[in-house]
Amino acid sequence: MRSIVFASGKGGVGKTSIAINLGLVLAQQGKRVVVVDADVSMANVGVMLGVERAPISLHNVLLGETNIRDAVYEGPYKLKYVPSALSIERVKKLVFERFKGAIEELEPVADYVFIDCPPGLNKDSEYAITAAKEMILVVTPDPSSLADALKIINFAGKNNVSTIGIVVNMSLNDKAEIKPADLETLLSTKVMHVIPMDLEMRKASIAQVPLLIKTPTSSAAHEIRVLASLLTGEPLPAETKVKKGVLQSLLESLARLFGGKKTS
Ligand SMILES: Nc1ncnc2c1ncn2[C@@H]1O[C@H](COP(=O)(O)OP(=O)(O)O)[C@@H](O)[C@H]1O
Ligand SMILES: [Mg+2]
Repeated sequence: MRSIVFASGKGGVGKTSIAINLGLVLAQQGKRVVVVDADVSMANVGVMLGVERAPISLHNVLLGETNIRDAVYEGPYKLKYVPSALSIERVKKLVFERFKGAIEELEPVADYVFIDCPPGLNKDSEYAITAAKEMILVVTPDPSSLADALKIINFAGKNNVSTIGIVVNMSLNDKAEIKPADLETLLSTKVMHVIPMDLEMRKASIAQVPLLIKTPTSSAAHEIRVLASLLTGEPLPAETKVKKGVLQSLLESLARLFGGKKTS
């Protein structure tokens, strides 16, 4: 099992979008992927996957009330995920020390665990980072996203979490942007891949249908498939046609989530 944390210096750089869509690519290839929503203050993995509210979440796991394997839900393409609760009331009481042990308990059911980390370097993100063996740092090509980036890389290194590389997201390929080569120098870390600014990604978030399903032909979706192949070392996965059933079941669970209608 590979456990990879998606970290960033600041919020809104695309960690959750990348973790979910990358997870969907690997899930389409038949890999067992569990996305763990560790961003307890944002908690939007479930929302982005368009999956209905979950009664058991990472909160119950961190409170020691349940085993993490009982908090695993299934999304599109059999992508598994562990939701965080939408309520933040109990966040402060959570015991983050349990985090690492909980991730290890996923070993029998997962080939890949993606941990969606809270932004910045703080107690919550430190536990999320040290629960993983590998880290991908997501940045956008502007100076503000680099705050804390070096600190996070150094923190990971000190805790034996190996940084696979930097993913630059929302690139406009603009002259004013920080170039990948400059990022590599600044952060002494390899840039793994660059994902373009793509309006389809925003549209997918708004529609609460993952990009890989909503617009698999988009340029961001393509680059996420390239990223998947860089991560696994396997050939570039083909663009998969989305089955009608997948979209239909997503729309149905959305209707349940927001329509308040019960189905059984
Ligand atoms: N490559 C991209 N191009 C355009 N918009 C993007 C891209 N990646 C992410 N976004 C959008 O940016 C917003 C923040 O993304 P999100 O994944 O929630 O970031 P984070 O998890 O780092 O806070 C979302 O609305 C998402 O749709
Ligand atoms: Mg997020």
